[in-house]
Amino acid sequence: MLRFDDRVAIITGAGHGLGRSHALLLAERGAKVVVNDLGGALDGTGASTGPAAEVAELITKNGGQAVASTDNVATPEGARAIVQTAVDAFGKVDIVVNNAGILRDKSLGKMSVEDFDGVLAVHVRGSFLVSHAAYPLMKAAGHGRIVNTSSPAGLFGNFGQANYSTAKMGLVGLTKTLAIEGARNGIKANAIAPIAWTRMTEALLPAEFEAKFTPERVSALVACLVHDSCEVSGEVFSVGGGRVARVFVAEGPGWKTDDLTPEAIAGNWDAIMAEQPYVLTAGDSMKAML
Ligand code: NAI
Repeated sequence: MLRFDDRVAIITGAGHGLGRSHALLLAERGAKVVVNDLGGALDGTGASTGPAAEVAELITKNGGQAVASTDNVATPEGARAIVQTAVDAFGKVDIVVNNAGILRDKSLGKMSVEDFDGVLAVHVRGSFLVSHAAYPLMKAAGHGRIVNTSSPAGLFGNFGQANYSTAKMGLVGLTKTLAIEGARNGIKANAIAPIAWTRMTEALLPAEFEAKFTPERVSALVACLVHDSCEVSGEVFSVGGGRVARVFVAEGPGWKTDDLTPEAIAGNWDAIMAEQPYVLTAGDSMKAML
């Protein structure tokens, strides 16, 4: 059994849904958990101490160790306070699961700048800020595990989610760079693109999804990725309903000529769109151009 005794985990947005489930699972397996949640509405408005406190209390009642944090991941002070809560209560940070999220769905024409900025602030800025605040501690310890929460909407696009899709694909870039930079200090970073029945999706998913797409079926992957034994880093995994699959950004073999004109491109779409054989790194992409 993968256990987390002596490991300290920060789970953001852990007052509801997926984060709650991640926190309960890690705590049940021995981790000391900071249950962070601002406690606001789905669109990020408002705040409440209730959700974080309830989950921390439930963990303690079950015999685990947890503290609640109601700080906002989207501000530098909030992110620093979350990490400080972990240090004050448990002395260190081994694991960060950036899970806090909000939704402000609107088609592009109806989306305000505030709707765009607000969603990026929680998902992208929040994940950067909490990782940034925890990173020096992980680096000094020569060990760390970070999981960021992307989404199929970011990886593949979705109507009405220009803000959310941008944020969620941004997290893929953050994850890949954290994995590259963290490698020499024992820090591994991965992203998940989950589907689960939560308050965020209950109005969007068919009712019959509730029983199959449980948050617990996502948390199993998160636990695996943040365990000491996990060697995987820089990857993105689609996860939901009991299935886990690698999602990867790949570049096709391409088509090249010394006389590249708009007309030459227009006449060679089939070769340009080919998918096999593909390359997976910026270095291999550059080599293919030479
Ligand atoms: P949820 O609404 O149940 O949980 C999100 C939590 O984040 C809430 O408890 C909320 O209070 C908290 N939060 C929001 N802003 C915060 C802030 N500034 N600081 C601290 N906490 C904050 O939704 P769910 O479904 O559990 O979502 C968790 C993550 O998974 C989100 O990042 C979401 O975008 C992502 N996701 C969920 C999917 C699903 O199928 N449920 C699909 C794809 C991605």
